Amino acid sequence: MTTEIIPVDDFDLVIFGGTGDLAKRKILPALYRRMCAGQMPRTARIIAAARSDYTNVQFREFVRESIESFAKSKACGTDLIGTFLKCISYVKIDALGDEGWDALKNTLRKDVVQAYYFSVAPRLFGPIAQNLKQRKIAGRDARIVVEKPFGRDLKSAQELNQVLGTCFHEDQIFRIDHYLGKETVQNLMALRFGNALFEPLWNEQHVDHIQITVAESLGVEGRGGYYDKSGAMRDMVQNHIMQLLCLTAMEPPSQFDAADVRDEKLKVIRALDPVSPDDIIRGQYVGAEESQGYLAQSGNSDSNTESFVALKVGISNWRWNGTPFYLRTGKKLRHRMSEIVIVFKDPPHSIFPEADDLKGNILTIRLQPDEGIELTMTIKEPGPGKMRLTQVPLDMSFAEALADKVENMPDAYERLIMDVIRGNQTLFMRGDEVEAAWGWVDPIIAMWDAKQDVKIKPYDIGGSGPDDALMLMHRDGRKWREIAP
Ligand code: BG6
Repeated sequence: MTTEIIPVDDFDLVIFGGTGDLAKRKILPALYRRMCAGQMPRTARIIAAARSDYTNVQFREFVRESIESFAKSKACGTDLIGTFLKCISYVKIDALGDEGWDALKNTLRKDVVQAYYFSVAPRLFGPIAQNLKQRKIAGRDARIVVEKPFGRDLKSAQELNQVLGTCFHEDQIFRIDHYLGKETVQNLMALRFGNALFEPLWNEQHVDHIQITVAESLGVEGRGGYYDKSGAMRDMVQNHIMQLLCLTAMEPPSQFDAADVRDEKLKVIRALDPVSPDDIIRGQYVGAEESQGYLAQSGNSDSNTESFVALKVGISNWRWNGTPFYLRTGKKLRHRMSEIVIVFKDPPHSIFPEADDLKGNILTIRLQPDEGIELTMTIKEPGPGKMRLTQVPLDMSFAEALADKVENMPDAYERLIMDVIRGNQTLFMRGDEVEAAWGWVDPIIAMWDAKQDVKIKPYDIGGSGPDDALMLMHRDGRKWREIAP
């Protein structure tokens, strides 16, 4: 197997917030790795724009450190750093004032792809878009990349869409959800629509329920100020988990392209049932010592913000009516583990009187870590005597099946930034999709806001969330998969 790398067209990429954490940890290393892979042309240019005082030379040193800390891999050492640094320049800019815009305009080339990455606080999205438009810096073919959070409720998302829409056309706006750039998330579509095996069974007739878990072992890690105003519902469910849910539940798009895939995802969001208060659990982590707990780490000792959420939701359409989806995500859980689990119904009748109850097959798509697919099958336990049955996994670990590829698996940002340059929006969220997701989330948050006196359930660091989250399934005669390595 060989990987076919198709170089993208030459480009100028402006990173607003180029000195920030995301640029340092993700965007710059991603670009460097794409250069090492031969996908980013050596003539491309990356222009960081931010408020701080940097000369080009000083900023290149910042980039060198970022690469050395975050971009090393077997496939990409540090050999090309010098070449990469030549592509970098810096412009000091005031997003809300006049400084720097002319300099930026003069830096840019007209005959290459132009992209503007908004890696800044959301309140600056609108002003930057307006400056790019009004100062005639970005033309009709330019692309803008907008980071999350895209609004904090339906109203703010609509306002943001409206402001961006007055400056750019929808086909120029790339709203990032980095989960869509993860190889294993894309693999979900390959598994569903590249195999004829599963699709006939992928519905309420054969699927008992679906579980989606995104468990993290880290806590809020110095992002307490932001996180405490968001909580797991806004930070993870409205975007990443919603995307996983859509890709799992959507109808087959007629083509793998931006319009068709996004149309199908939108239909899923619109068919989501409202969540009843009994079907949603919020939790907040507590440590053995006070300083380890969420309250200390968020810097808000009165906080009623959730670091964990588990919920049950139905989808009212022909395919899924009656099949519940159980979703959960949380910080400071036992392990970092993200997976989608399709639990099929039990066989309708047992012909083996001596066997225990026959169990349904379980298909697990492991998104991270140890990416892979597992299908449990019922087989005869070897040996004479009775017909004893047992469940065993057919386990495919991508690391074993595709060793060299997995080792060099591109980070989500690598794929997504190259898609921006190629102008492919399939793995980006459309405006109406983001609004529909907020439209479903808003009533849940409003319900919590109205009951501020209802305290969030505490859970221990290193566990699997509050007991009530386990009960959410137990009461339906079901069980969460263990959060295990
Ligand atoms: C981010 C959230 O979008 O995703 C973080 O803001 C979260 O709170 C992160 O930790 C999880 O991403 P990943 O790629 O580590 O699963």
